[in-house]
Amino acid sequence: MTKTFKDGFLWGGAVAAHQLEGAYQEGGKGLSIADMMTLGSRDQARELTDEIVPGTYYPNHVGNDFYHHYKEDVKLMAEMGFKAFRTSIAWSRIFPNGDETAPNEAGLAFYDDLFDELLKYGIQPVITLSHFEMPLNLVKKYGGWANRDLITIFARFAHVCFERYHDKVKYWMTFNEINNQTNYESDISVYENSGIKFKAGDDKQKLMYQAAHYELVASAQAVQIAHAIDPSLQVGCMLAFCPIYPASSKPEDILFAQRAMDSRLYFGDVHVNGTYPNWLQAYFTEKGYDLDITDRDLEILKKGTVDYVAFSYYMSFTAKYSGHWDYREYSDLVANPYIKSNDWGWAIDPVGLRYALNWMTTRWHKPLFIVENGLGAYDKLTADKQVHDDYRIDYLRDHLVQMEKAVADDGVDLLGYLPWGCIDLVSASTGEMKKRYGFIYVDEDDYGRGSFKRYPKDSFYWYKKVIASNGANL
Ligand code: BG6
Repeated sequence: MTKTFKDGFLWGGAVAAHQLEGAYQEGGKGLSIADMMTLGSRDQARELTDEIVPGTYYPNHVGNDFYHHYKEDVKLMAEMGFKAFRTSIAWSRIFPNGDETAPNEAGLAFYDDLFDELLKYGIQPVITLSHFEMPLNLVKKYGGWANRDLITIFARFAHVCFERYHDKVKYWMTFNEINNQTNYESDISVYENSGIKFKAGDDKQKLMYQAAHYELVASAQAVQIAHAIDPSLQVGCMLAFCPIYPASSKPEDILFAQRAMDSRLYFGDVHVNGTYPNWLQAYFTEKGYDLDITDRDLEILKKGTVDYVAFSYYMSFTAKYSGHWDYREYSDLVANPYIKSNDWGWAIDPVGLRYALNWMTTRWHKPLFIVENGLGAYDKLTADKQVHDDYRIDYLRDHLVQMEKAVADDGVDLLGYLPWGCIDLVSASTGEMKKRYGFIYVDEDDYGRGSFKRYPKDSFYWYKKVIASNGANL
């Protein structure tokens, strides 16, 4: 076996609290924004309701009931040989309203128990502080991340988590896919990232940049808090990396694709370099955006740069210049004739993963961590309780081949590989259960009906061999 990956390479899987825990009112948990999102589909956006509407189904209230099944689920992950398991801490379990001064002990105890269970099997918890959820009260009372007060409120949450768990958790991330809101015309993306619901007449792009700024400052502050509590903690950012290819070799398309990449990934520049890139400062001036960015903020950004860059990789985009230079994700993307898509229209592009790993290494010179990758697909549980998901194995194998080339041939410094939804859970974009990613099947339908029994899929046994061979046996 050739030794591609370094010792301690973190093979495992990833999930997020609101997509699988369920138990949305247990252990003193408060309502979160994820609790207000209805069931949607590929063609119908999830509704973001202000109150819980009687008679409406909210998939995140149930998740896959991990809250009550986690011991059995962790055991299955241990059986696959996981070295690491990424989840998030539901902010509303720790601070039910977000702005309390003291945390909820029952919420803290739940994560203590979960982390202990993982560590019992030698599985490292890898933790995101804010993965598409915040206490609902922070939206109602403060307007979400449109409000500067959230920086202090988040710092309190981060402090409590680092203080409580620093002996159990080494790898942390601040905001999941902070750059999704680049697509500010997508209500769900802005709501999940920033808890903002636009009103008629809002300058959506300006509001997005302002909220993102507060998040970037909060993230930098969290990095400093973590290091002050325990210098061995590793705190990363988390980006959704979708390479954006030019639609043709026309110079305008090339330049436009470059600008589109800069727009989606400036978040990483700020996280890593601690400064805003020149082009964006010029853009703010050109747009007349007089954002609330103080000298103190800029100091915090400088002092709170991340230790590593974590990212999700699912798909690539292709952009075409059409007469304007500011990238609009909702209208500037075109189909790529060389690439197929999954049933939800997500482009399947394994080579793009090697591109991603090289692009980030060259730009940021930081260790990288793949904390999401995977295929959302319809699975069928056979009468004898099997799932033959060869399509998922093919997808993952093709991506792992590219990942290995990036590490072995291109010298990328990679910490680990944590594919998404290692156990079936609620889809973030659609709220469906039937958009499945897992190695473990959960018997539950889109409306939370089913036995909730867990069954290993064929990919479970395949991934177990991959891990046991440190990636040699694909
Ligand atoms: C990422 C998110 O966007 O992709 C996850 O970090 C999400 O929360 C995953 O679940 C897959 O997306 P979806 O919409 O298929 O669940």
